[in-house]
Amino acid sequence: MKLQRRDFMLASAAVGGVARAQTAERIATAVIGTGNRGSYLLSGVLEQPEAKVAAVCDIKPDRLDKAASAAAKDSPATYNDWRRVIDRKDIGAVFIATPPHLHAEMAMAALAAGKHVYCEKPVGVTAAQVGALVKAAKGAKTVFVSGQQLRSGKQLGEAVRRIREGAIGDVMWVKAQRHATADLPHDGTSGDWYFDVAKSGGYLIEQSVHNLDACNWVIGSRPVRACGFGGTQLYKNDPPGRTIFDCASLTYEYQNGVKLSFTQNVFHPRTMPSGGQYIHVYGTKGAVDLMSTATLYPLGKEGQPSVLAEKREESRHAHIMAFYEAITKGTPVPAGIEVGATAALTAILGHEAMVRQTVVNWSDLGVEV
Ligand SMILES: NC(=O)c1ccc[n+]([C@@H]2O[C@H](COP(=O)([O-])OP(=O)(O)OC[C@H]3O[C@@H](n4cnc5c(N)ncnc54)[C@H](O)[C@@H]3O)[C@@H](O)[C@H]2O)c1
Repeated sequence: MKLQRRDFMLASAAVGGVARAQTAERIATAVIGTGNRGSYLLSGVLEQPEAKVAAVCDIKPDRLDKAASAAAKDSPATYNDWRRVIDRKDIGAVFIATPPHLHAEMAMAALAAGKHVYCEKPVGVTAAQVGALVKAAKGAKTVFVSGQQLRSGKQLGEAVRRIREGAIGDVMWVKAQRHATADLPHDGTSGDWYFDVAKSGGYLIEQSVHNLDACNWVIGSRPVRACGFGGTQLYKNDPPGRTIFDCASLTYEYQNGVKLSFTQNVFHPRTMPSGGQYIHVYGTKGAVDLMSTATLYPLGKEGQPSVLAEKREESRHAHIMAFYEAITKGTPVPAGIEVGATAALTAILGHEAMVRQTVVNWSDLGVEV
């Protein structure tokens, strides 16, 4: 069943200072997986004038109850079986915020049922999952958004645009990192799946997919090959049965010749400088510290650092707003299947290089986006 485009009534609802379209019939929306991220997404859906929360779904009763209470104004139905949510013909949009290994299967079922889909990152943890979802999303007439929400960042977007327009000449090389001061809490909300590589994909695929996506964005290309090493250096068998790495050093080469050096770890001391996340983009005329201040540093002795893109007020739910605008107005999505799949495959490529301990080619993954 394909959804019919609804009729809209323009109303003067002002959200975040921006006039928004008020739908005559709000889009019945379901959130599947109401843990940490799902609760956050739910709060964003509740703020959208175009949406009403028709269903919430989780296999954990406490999280389901919490979500139902948070969305009480919309009186959502509660489910512990996600397939029953997909079966509901009145539901037009589905948010998927379950553990990563479930994303592709759930998203494909929702698309096949004619629903608009907002699927959290990574869109899949294996190339096969990503490839199957690419086919499904490209064949669907409904909207698909991946949870690569950096793409909705205004300051970052402006900095990327300026770099791609030549602000630092030709981009040649990128150095990026994601260093954390600690492992994710072993008894935290995601502790029952995150440390299992088959479920999360590991630190690179589950978390650094954001950083790698931003690198793809600014480089304006995708990798052709990757090599590198990773391992579990500190948290050996901790928590017991752990199968994900706690550090990685990777090198990627892109289709357009740009090289990316990427490192990650979960043991960067809080008090030691140079921690956290950054993306340093080096061009023929200078370099940009992309993630923090978007400052441009000219190459050579002349010239002073300058801000490439000013910090600005940004809605914390911009990505969700873009999803509903795409549904209601047909506007392009900031991170569709091409962005989500390329980001996931970039991370999967790096992961495969570390596991196989050899250079792995993009073509070895067997998926074209
Ligand atoms: N975009 C972002 O910045 C961002 C931030 C955090 C997490 N995430 C992503 O969101 C997803 C969830 O992460 P989280 O931190 O919320 O984890 P979480 O463990 O807190 O939440 C996942 C929820 O899914 C539920 N679940 C598991 N199997 C289910 C099933 N078969 N049917 C219905 N519900 C099921 C779990 O019970 C849990 O409540 C992950 O893919 C993660 O990568 C994205």
